Amino acid sequence: MEALKGLILSGGAGTRLRPITHTSAKQLVPVANKPVLFYGIEALVGAGVTEIGIIIAPETGGEIRDAVGDGSRFGAEITYIEQAEPAGLAHAVLTAEQFLDNSPFVMYLGDNLLRNGLAGLVETFKAESPEAIILLTPVDDPGSYGVAELEDDHVVRLVEKPEDPPSNMALVGVYLFSPSIMDAARSLEPSWRGELEITEAIQVLIDQGRRVRSEVVDGWWKDTGQLGDMLEANRLVLEEIESRIDGELDDSRVEGRVIVEAGAVLKGSVVRGPAVIGADAMIEEAYIGPYTSIGENVTIRRSEVEHSILLAGATVEDLGTRMEASLLGRDVRVVRTDGPPKTFRLLVGDRSEIEII
Ligand code: TTP
Repeated sequence: MEALKGLILSGGAGTRLRPITHTSAKQLVPVANKPVLFYGIEALVGAGVTEIGIIIAPETGGEIRDAVGDGSRFGAEITYIEQAEPAGLAHAVLTAEQFLDNSPFVMYLGDNLLRNGLAGLVETFKAESPEAIILLTPVDDPGSYGVAELEDDHVVRLVEKPEDPPSNMALVGVYLFSPSIMDAARSLEPSWRGELEITEAIQVLIDQGRRVRSEVVDGWWKDTGQLGDMLEANRLVLEEIESRIDGELDDSRVEGRVIVEAGAVLKGSVVRGPAVIGADAMIEEAYIGPYTSIGENVTIRRSEVEHSILLAGATVEDLGTRMEASLLGRDVRVVRTDGPPKTFRLLVGDRSEIEII
């Protein structure tokens, strides 16, 4: 079989992760201090797929190019493909027609994370040459997903967000396609939500009597498209880090698995892992609890932070109560100042969320 190309979808609107996505691509939000998108690139390269196209949106594409570059540091060769509007996953495939150039390919949603990579799937695809392989995982609420009806591991029908689900097996954001998906995508009309749906394109292949196989995810899978899932992905990845202390510990203690990057300084603080403290962070008289990723140049003073992701340059000072299950964007400041009256003074961007508990 011809070498497989990779197609990573990193466009989209990211409405469910506003306000972070007003200024930044959701695929660049760090999980354990590494952008989600990098895990996808590494998974493809790990499966021997090095010729990779990345679909980008006009608004966030520049930032993605800057972060990923030409791919050489991943051992990949990257081509950027701009999709003018987020008109659906099958529309993204059509947009990449020139790049794909009739090759078989792996399509990977840029905000997804897979514990065990893609090598096994790619092997199966090469060995069996089906028309497509979709990846599935059992879920508790199949009505919220694209769901597959199966006969053994053959897919007989796909339904988007079914009222009466034919199974509990939901589609995960990884697909392997032969070039026939292109014609199938071309034959589609926009769905009720105005998108060209990849599930409908795959259904076209099934209706043509072509072989569409499924595999069940081995290990965990996470879609990081909303806050709770992003924090959960952060927890799962941190669960497997190995301790490394390159920064400075001054009258401070780390417990469990903790990474402290070079230039970070901990003074009079306790970090209970799993947690990662980014380069040049300043943690003073603070407690950092499990499942927390602290970005570069973050400052935390006299505060407790747990189960959270803080992006580069954020500041948390004198909170008085613990901050948890939070995602702070770049250079965000959360500080308490002394003295009455007890008031909140806020300068908060559109669609931010503040919960005082
Ligand atoms: P989604 O998370 O399904 O869509 P979205 O990014 O528009 O987010 P929301 O629903 O919160 O508004 O997209 C999955 C991945 O595919 C994500 O990385 C964005 C990408 N994508 C594209 O590149 N082009 C598209 O047309 C769409 C719909 C998604």
